[in-house]
Amino acid sequence: MANAPLSELRRVVVLGTGGTIAGRAASSGDNIGYTAGQVGVADLLGGIEAPEGVTLVAEQVAQVDSKDMSLDIWQKLAQRCVHWLAQPDVVGVVITHGTDTLEETAFFLHSVIASAKPVVLTCAMRPATALAPDGPQNVRDAIVVAATAGAHGVTVVCAGTVHSGVDIQKVHTYRLDAFASGDAGPIGYVEEGAVRRVRAWPEGAALEASKALDAVGQWPRVEIVMSHAGASGALVDALLQVGGAEPVRGLVLAATGNGTLHHALEAAALKAQDRGVAVLRATRCANGRILPRPDDRLRDAGALTPVKARIALMLELLGK
Ligand code: SIN
Repeated sequence: MANAPLSELRRVVVLGTGGTIAGRAASSGDNIGYTAGQVGVADLLGGIEAPEGVTLVAEQVAQVDSKDMSLDIWQKLAQRCVHWLAQPDVVGVVITHGTDTLEETAFFLHSVIASAKPVVLTCAMRPATALAPDGPQNVRDAIVVAATAGAHGVTVVCAGTVHSGVDIQKVHTYRLDAFASGDAGPIGYVEEGAVRRVRAWPEGAALEASKALDAVGQWPRVEIVMSHAGASGALVDALLQVGGAEPVRGLVLAATGNGTLHHALEAAALKAQDRGVAVLRATRCANGRILPRPDDRLRDAGALTPVKARIALMLELLGK
């Protein structure tokens, strides 16, 4: 690569955020008793061959167990993506991430990054110290996707499958193939260093990204409340009464089936809506979307899961 003309240089940037992929356990046989977010991203790239003509760049953005993912890290991550994607020789960005909130980060980045280049998240279900870790192959596959001509949008690569950052959901607690894309199905597969695509790449963000990228400390507070057998309006009432610097501006109701709510929760939510709180219903079902009815009094989030609907609502409120 040293003698390649400048116009032919192609870089893939790998941003590290932690997760099991960077986890360490005391013994190689232990796939669950590890500490996530221990191994640096530069070390995760050790032994991984880049596709021909591609140079890898590693940058550590965070080092967390993704259950502890924060809005500040999201923001920094989005800013680093925007920075790197603007470099002419960077063809794509890969992000190593924990599996637990991966779908939230992917959806957030999908919502705020408008770029013709790909952002590819990847992960692992086994720590880096495992007898047979899944991380190295996932990273290699993600780099392949990031370097694929024409790839764009936010995607997630895990266990040889390419998912869209919009549709992906973690569906298994333990298996290596822990993600699914629901009714939409995967975008494709990575096979021996090549992408076999079965549907279109995801379209980039329609949203104006700049507000989200500059919003440090200004995120509107949006909480999720679940509807279930025996639910009441008590949680919603309590959330509305919480005073202090950060009042609740939005509520996502994790609704049953086609967006239905326990009548007591619905009554409290309507009261909250009357008081100016933005309320959105998202289905608890793993698949499908809420089909609206003419008599709906609370907005629905379509196919978004409650955690993704929360992000959508935060971004909507941020734009106001
Ligand atoms: C995490 O989400 O950081 C820990 C779990 C995982 O990556 O599988």
